[in-house]
Amino acid sequence: MDNNKRDENMVRITTTELAQSFIDEQIKALRAQIGDKKVLLALSGGVDSSVVAALLIKAVGDQLVCVHVNHGLLRKGEPEQVIKVFRDELKANLIYVDAVDRFLDKLAGVAEPEKKRKIIGAEFIRVFEEEARKLSGIDFLAQGTIYPDILESGPVKAHHNVGGLPDDLKFELVEPIKLLFKDEVRVVGKTLGLPDNMVYRQPFPGPGLGVRCLGAITRDRLEALREADAILREEFDNAGLAGKVWQYFTIIPDYKSVGVKEGLRSFEWPVIIRAVNTRDAMTATIEPIPYDVLGKIVDRIVHEVKGVNRVLYDLTPKPTGTIEWE
Ligand code: XMP
Repeated sequence: MDNNKRDENMVRITTTELAQSFIDEQIKALRAQIGDKKVLLALSGGVDSSVVAALLIKAVGDQLVCVHVNHGLLRKGEPEQVIKVFRDELKANLIYVDAVDRFLDKLAGVAEPEKKRKIIGAEFIRVFEEEARKLSGIDFLAQGTIYPDILESGPVKAHHNVGGLPDDLKFELVEPIKLLFKDEVRVVGKTLGLPDNMVYRQPFPGPGLGVRCLGAITRDRLEALREADAILREEFDNAGLAGKVWQYFTIIPDYKSVGVKEGLRSFEWPVIIRAVNTRDAMTATIEPIPYDVLGKIVDRIVHEVKGVNRVLYDLTPKPTGTIEWE
């Protein structure tokens, strides 16, 4: 039997009961596979790697070593949440790597989107490899591969996996959720007790805010982008839109415009809002956001985010616009 193929009779995990029996089965299977050996996991804090971490913690406890790499391109509060949930609450063996300067130094002056992606991907592997080399006795590498990744049906997450490790660091793979669809992963995550904002999180690209801070990334624009994105997410939560809109985020271009702040001329960046709905990210439609919600977001961003004096709302569907701007 092809163990990368979903059996047509496989029941779709839609309830807590079904998720619980999946969890029980996986715990047995993971214990049988891993025995008393150690397993390494790159834990981004996204739903897939978080569910894999939570499963492995239940199955093999501190034989799991999680590595969370902060590349400086995560959203506000994300690294802190990974530490809180996994180290403080679930008592995971978690290595936190602050690689912010390293990534931002490598990216300095690089404006071409694909070059930025390559640098972020390659640097991630390098940081992860260095951490893996510091550890001894690791036999397994866990990954949050899910069924759509196997089917290669969409562009989402193509860059996430920790492929590309050198030959002497090839571990046996542990992929407990590889036959699950995203909605099933979420039910399993919820049943494992992970917080809602982790389980129902919108898709977030591997290169993170790096492809939303347009052109050559600078620390001041990146910080403005992170703050604006946090405001957008907070106001979507308050308006009950968070679960309804597939992906919503902000973008910051690398040019300024003239404005007026407190009676004085200001020459500052704009921020662009994007909020789209889609099934498979191949096409996307625009979510109509109520004007009062937009008004509140604009007001908060221009008053609370340093260096921003204008907010634009991108109404372009895909096609012709892609979801991301880079
Ligand atoms: P586009 O911009 O191509 O995006 O319409 C489609 C979906 O893919 C995500 N995306 C990425 N995900 N690495 C990722 O892991 C990337 O480099 C990347 N680029 C786009 C995007 O957020 C959307 O969900």
